[in-house]
Amino acid sequence: MRQLSELQIERTKFKPRMPQILKTGFSSIKIKKGKPTKAVADAVKVKEIFKNTYGGPVVTFAKGKNSKIDKRAVKIGVVLSGGQAPGGHNVIAGLYDGLKKANPKNKLIGFLGGPQGLLDNKWKEITGPFMDCYRNTGGFDIIQSGRTKIETAKQFEKTTQTLLKNKIDALVVVGGDDSNTNAGLLAEYFAAEDTGINVIGIPKTIDGDLKNAQIETSFGFDTATKTYAELTGNICRDVNSARKYWHFIRLMGRSASHITMEVGFKTQPNMVLIGEEVLAKKMTLGEVVKNIADVVVKRAKHKKDFGVVLVPEGLIEFIPEMKKLISELNDLVADYEKQLKKMSSVVDKKKFIYKKLTPKMSKLMESLPDGIESQLLLDRDPHGNVQVSQIETEKLLADMVEQRLSGMKKKGVYKGKFSKITHFFGYEGRCGAPSNFDANYTYALGYNAVLLVLNGMTGYMSSVRKLKRKPEQWECGGIPLTMMMNIERRKGKEKPVIQKALVELNGRPFKELVKARHDWAVNEHYIFPGPIQYYGPEKIADMTTKTLAYEQAEKK
Ligand code: FBP
Repeated sequence: MRQLSELQIERTKFKPRMPQILKTGFSSIKIKKGKPTKAVADAVKVKEIFKNTYGGPVVTFAKGKNSKIDKRAVKIGVVLSGGQAPGGHNVIAGLYDGLKKANPKNKLIGFLGGPQGLLDNKWKEITGPFMDCYRNTGGFDIIQSGRTKIETAKQFEKTTQTLLKNKIDALVVVGGDDSNTNAGLLAEYFAAEDTGINVIGIPKTIDGDLKNAQIETSFGFDTATKTYAELTGNICRDVNSARKYWHFIRLMGRSASHITMEVGFKTQPNMVLIGEEVLAKKMTLGEVVKNIADVVVKRAKHKKDFGVVLVPEGLIEFIPEMKKLISELNDLVADYEKQLKKMSSVVDKKKFIYKKLTPKMSKLMESLPDGIESQLLLDRDPHGNVQVSQIETEKLLADMVEQRLSGMKKKGVYKGKFSKITHFFGYEGRCGAPSNFDANYTYALGYNAVLLVLNGMTGYMSSVRKLKRKPEQWECGGIPLTMMMNIERRKGKEKPVIQKALVELNGRPFKELVKARHDWAVNEHYIFPGPIQYYGPEKIADMTTKTLAYEQAEKK
């Protein structure tokens, strides 16, 4: 018999709070269309690629008669793509409930193991009792996820065959920027081939980097940052009690430092490194290390040989010299993929790569600790990105700070004691039971996607906006995927991709951090958010992120 914890049992009873507009019958929800849109950058090139789906209007749902809504029985396929993010199961619950409300004969099938399920024609029908086991739970285990990228002509054909064979009317892709780019390409392909299959994307990623003027946040960011903040807050309290360690905590988030900044707001540690700032200031690795060591020295003067430093996992990519090295390596790994695969030892790979790198980069690579060098050579993800989750930047920094301090000690300019402990919080945050915010948001995103499908939209992202308001007042609609795209270099080639939202140094959240950080560095202003609360006062159980609060305040 399936065993459930007390919390799991309680959470199955949780009913997501719905935006008022989605509570209305579907034929009483009209669609309001805005003006045609443009790609965020490189519009001419993006338009050229998306001949059939480029430039649709932003759509918003409003109360009103809708005689055009599709009343036929439809079948939707859903795929979970990329890294797990809390709330994925509720997207599927929202899709299921929305479909059944529109027409009890509608069907939802889930492709298994991510996009690979589309290629292998592996799927499972989502039925009521099966769905009920997964409502409000974390994880993607209902149908699992995967990182296969559908990119070759053969894969596009195979996907089409699978969908046509199963009589699928629309595909819903739950994914991050890369997977939603793929959703856009599939929508374009299906339109060009006149298949009649529509595609809708759902903004997922704990990283928080899939956002823009229309998409306020990706789902999962809220729960993941609450999870990391609980752990970080506990470490801050431990540090302040024992007063003998410096903790270096690397936090997931790929290139963007949104997670690190949000956890910083929630816990107020001594240092919060922001990759985007390092890039803008063109800081070298040595300068990053110096900044940390300066704070250690300053605190040591007050007999405070302890502290907490937050390090975004993507920091390494933002140090200009490292960025250049990674970009050269990315191209080489793509160009010599087959040769490198054949080499069984890291030593052979290094030898091979050293010869191909430009002399300056080869020298830099050689200067890095062995472990980091090997981690930089690991396989890229299917989108050609270096896997920053595998690079132990926190150890690199802690070791380099230690080295610098021992040099300073010899010169008599530092008299403290430096004991370092390193952590990586990443996978711990991806499958937590979704917070109330994420449970409500994801359910609404799924339900809203059904409305987009029934209104014949394709190449759109499901969008639920005005998230600082109560869920009943959230606005619903869709954003054309091409509106978020620009052209970037991937695997050595120019490709259309959804533009990643990095931390904006002119934005309110970063400015708030800058205001506070000098004080946090020297004093102990630690705060302790505690574990995620699912029940209790609204301001604790339903509140979302500080990042969103600052961003929305800025827009007023
Ligand atoms: P997505 O971009 O697919 O949402 O994944 C996010 C993430 O958790 C990153 O923060 C992290 O760098 C990466 O996935 C780790 O990937 P993997 O799960 O393949 O190890």
